[in-house]
Amino acid sequence: MASSQALFIALFISAIAFYSGSVDANFPKSMYFNWGAYHSWMNGDNLQLVLDQTSGSGIQSKRQFLFGSIEMLIKLVPGNSAGTVTAYYMSSTGNWHDEIDFEFLGNVSGQPYIIHTNIFTQGIGNREQQFYPWFDPTADFHNYTIHWNPTEVVWYVDSLPIRVFRNYENEGIPYPNKQGMRVYSSLWNADNWATRGGLVKIDWSWAPFIARYNRFRARACKWNGPVSISQCTSQTTANWWTSPAYSQLSAAKQGQMKWVRDNYMIYDYCEDTKRFNGQMPPECFKPQY
Ligand SMILES: *[C@@H]1O[C@H](CO)[C@@H](O)[C@H](O)[C@H]1NC(C)=O
Ligand SMILES: *[C@@H]1O[C@H](CO)[C@@H](O)[C@H](O)[C@H]1NC(C)=O
Repeated sequence: MASSQALFIALFISAIAFYSGSVDANFPKSMYFNWGAYHSWMNGDNLQLVLDQTSGSGIQSKRQFLFGSIEMLIKLVPGNSAGTVTAYYMSSTGNWHDEIDFEFLGNVSGQPYIIHTNIFTQGIGNREQQFYPWFDPTADFHNYTIHWNPTEVVWYVDSLPIRVFRNYENEGIPYPNKQGMRVYSSLWNADNWATRGGLVKIDWSWAPFIARYNRFRARACKWNGPVSISQCTSQTTANWWTSPAYSQLSAAKQGQMKWVRDNYMIYDYCEDTKRFNGQMPPECFKPQY
């Protein structure tokens, strides 16, 4: 074989290895419908989830991941979306599951959505924080990214960090770092709680409700069982999200997060002393910046 041919083949193989090792693109390749497939649709980088009076719909990733940058562009249900919830999250399975959530709670026309976030570690959640968006999330696609590495979980909206959960495992606060998680999204009827706490019901004359998705990327470490715990934690070039540059937010990113939280945060479980009867969850006493 001519050496140029050999070089070409080597490059080709390493390109394949690069893509299969670090990027899960393309909806049909990386996701499948677990609900309501008959009225939803995916093609290449595009996906639509539909909710009508018969059914909602949902997808899940074929693979599980441990750490990485999980990115999705979403254009939420427009018009009167009250009572609908679009969920976009990662989760492991079992009684001690970990979960990292974005949920978008719809509203009547002209009233703001709520961006609802939560995190479960070892089966325990109750860590809700909520925000109003600073833009109309139904007019365009916006980038909702979960950046998850051994030191922190960061929720990004259009690259602005809105929330962080840092690893305080050595102080007894469980951290999601030993189980693979799948990526899920669904659109469903939650009118018993979503809009003004359940006061506003779905107006079915607006159905079908459609959430549009574009460009899913899981630049993430694939979970292949417990052996992945050390593989995915190691600071290699492939695991770029574990590099020191990502172990904490830069001063600029911290400033952006402060802006969002000062101006758009509407609920923080760590401020809800009534709910926890004064026994606040331990991470509420730890600096998250
Ligand atoms: C989405 O946001 C993440 C986090 O800031 C970023 O790494 C990624 O490049 C963004 N994707 C797009 C398509 O803008
Ligand atoms: C819907 O609009 C009402 C009135 O502006 C507001 O109180 C509420 O937080 C908004 N969002 C949801 C999801 O209820």
